[in-house]
Amino acid sequence: MIKLNKLSKSFGDHQVIDGVDLEIPDGQSLAVIGPSGCGKSTLLKLLIRLEEPTGGSVSVNGQDIVRLDEEGLISLRQKVGFVFQYGALFDSLSVFENVAFALREHAKLPERQIARIVGEKLKLVELEGTEKLMPEALSGGMQKRVGIARALAFDPTIILYDEPTTGLDPITSVTIENLMVKLARELKVTSVLVTHVMQTVRRVANRVVMINEAKLIELGSPAEAARSTVPIVKKFITGGID
Ligand SMILES: Nc1ncnc2c1ncn2[C@@H]1O[C@H](COP(=O)(O)OP(=O)(O)O)[C@@H](O)[C@H]1O
Ligand SMILES: [Mg+2]
Repeated sequence: MIKLNKLSKSFGDHQVIDGVDLEIPDGQSLAVIGPSGCGKSTLLKLLIRLEEPTGGSVSVNGQDIVRLDEEGLISLRQKVGFVFQYGALFDSLSVFENVAFALREHAKLPERQIARIVGEKLKLVELEGTEKLMPEALSGGMQKRVGIARALAFDPTIILYDEPTTGLDPITSVTIENLMVKLARELKVTSVLVTHVMQTVRRVANRVVMINEAKLIELGSPAEAARSTVPIVKKFITGGID
């Protein structure tokens, strides 16, 4: 379970997140929506301390993450996989080495075991046999999937997705959405996805919140969100603003 308690974040005098409370129970697939620049990526980064809060707290499985030391932080980032918006693959490393990277850095595993884990994660994202390819040889959707395989390396219980389908064509988007649903079902991971793509919200999430003026608006299920009568929500969901 992830629990935000009066969480705030500002950059200088720009308040991006303002005293937000939120509980994300295990197994939930939560979508955080809102227009560009509203603070979605910042919120996601606060969950694994890629950003430090300026107020309030974040707890993951009962642990206040702001108090973690270096070792605790490494273990948090193993339990919580992060799928970056632009894939963030290392261009000079093969698919295999990209997925193996954190395993090599943080776990002293024999080579055979690393190969087994990498093979298993690539199979989960349906990219078996691509180990030797370089990122530049992959399509956008394949790069996303390598990013997901990498996030799965330590068998996380939570996966955070930053704009998983933004910039992908509609067919590729559906394959990524199906993969996210499959991982939630098969691995029983908790998912938090931030996106401004409503199709992805409908296909993947079972609960939606919107960031508006640094606060969260609770919208319920995607179907309930679609029926919202709050003007700013309606405008966003019907495609009025981004
Ligand atoms: N490291 C930073 N320093 C200063 N301002 C930042 C930083 N990161 C994000 N911001 C600002 O915070 C706001 C929210 O950014 P972000 O979380 O990236 O929005 P979103 O992901 O919803 O597009 C934006 O106005 C952005 O310019
Ligand atoms: Mg963003």
